[in-house]
Amino acid sequence: MGLPIANPVGQCADESEMTDRTYRIAAIPADGIGPEVVEAALEALESLAAVDGGFRLEVRHFDWGSARYHRTGSYMPEDGLEQLRAHDAILFGAVGAPDVPDHISLWGLRLPICQGFDQYANVRPTRVLPGVRSPLRDLAPGGLDWLIIRENSEGEYAGHGGRAHRGMPEEVATETAIFTRRGVERIMRYAFECARARPRRHLTVVTKSNAQRFGMVFWDEMAAMVGAEYPDVAWDKELVDAMTVRMVRAPQSLDTIVATNLHADILSDLAAALAGSLGIAPTGNVDPERRAPSMFEPIHGSAFDITGKGIANPVASFWTASLMLEHLGERGAAARLMNAVELVCAAGILTPDLGGRAKTKDVTRAVCEALKGSNAPVA
Ligand code: IPM
Ligand code: MG
Repeated sequence: MGLPIANPVGQCADESEMTDRTYRIAAIPADGIGPEVVEAALEALESLAAVDGGFRLEVRHFDWGSARYHRTGSYMPEDGLEQLRAHDAILFGAVGAPDVPDHISLWGLRLPICQGFDQYANVRPTRVLPGVRSPLRDLAPGGLDWLIIRENSEGEYAGHGGRAHRGMPEEVATETAIFTRRGVERIMRYAFECARARPRRHLTVVTKSNAQRFGMVFWDEMAAMVGAEYPDVAWDKELVDAMTVRMVRAPQSLDTIVATNLHADILSDLAAALAGSLGIAPTGNVDPERRAPSMFEPIHGSAFDITGKGIANPVASFWTASLMLEHLGERGAAARLMNAVELVCAAGILTPDLGGRAKTKDVTRAVCEALKGSNAPVA
């Protein structure tokens, strides 16, 4: 019995129906520990392709990131999106540098890709992997198994706002969250689809509709409207502040979770910490309609404090690669990769963020070895 694939990321093609199983991958390692963990993921993917024998990856590297910004004044070329468009998926590392304000790096690379390709669903699975100690182990000995769906195209990240009278006593700054019918309806529908594809068929819709009486009440209404189409999915509502308590106090009452761009950003960091470490948390920026490539990345970011030390945890990046494979329709390979990662974690081959002493390369080597020994079907 293989591991359940806990994270549907769009309608996957059935691999048995596909003739050409060569996938064009755009790798953007970018900043900080990004290059270290993307290299680890590509190594694991290569081992996996070799044992699988069915699919091939054609990887093209893009050197976009803060070094390019320092050199040329921009994070990516003007026709960057056009260069990426020809790929089946994007594997991203991390963006951000100590000498560039975070909002410049974010709006220079990651957000233009997410928003430019309308990757409106951000998918964040969280589980406690074997061998990893969750701070909730006494409250939830069976672990936790969540799928957070983050709205990824609008809301608080819409980039709508401005500043006037800079430096004056009457200075004003606005940051307006935008919620559109199209945007909320499509993320709600995607969340219900994801919930339906998981065994528990349960969705929690997170808002702050007691205090925010326009956009958040609109979210509640859209949840009720879309939810009526899914009588087989049980759903409930939670306010975001109460949600933090529920995640800690009653983790097993949750399964699939949908929230706004900012709320889900915050909740997913909490989720990663409760699952053991930010170093294991993956994400997919997905266009469920497949009009453009989707982008997969570890959540952890650049991590300057450990950059170049060889101790970055590659697990988030492996899990990210598994999400990418699933999106490409390679469900068997995706499950096999996660099996290998779980075997390695269970064996205690862990980086320092998980209390271990292994280096990035040790974990990567162990995963590649486990893959070679796991050619048996996992389903
Ligand atoms: C995330 C990150 C980013 C976000 C940062 C780096 C801007 O925290 O992917 O969760 O807030 O979207
Ligand atoms: Mg975040």
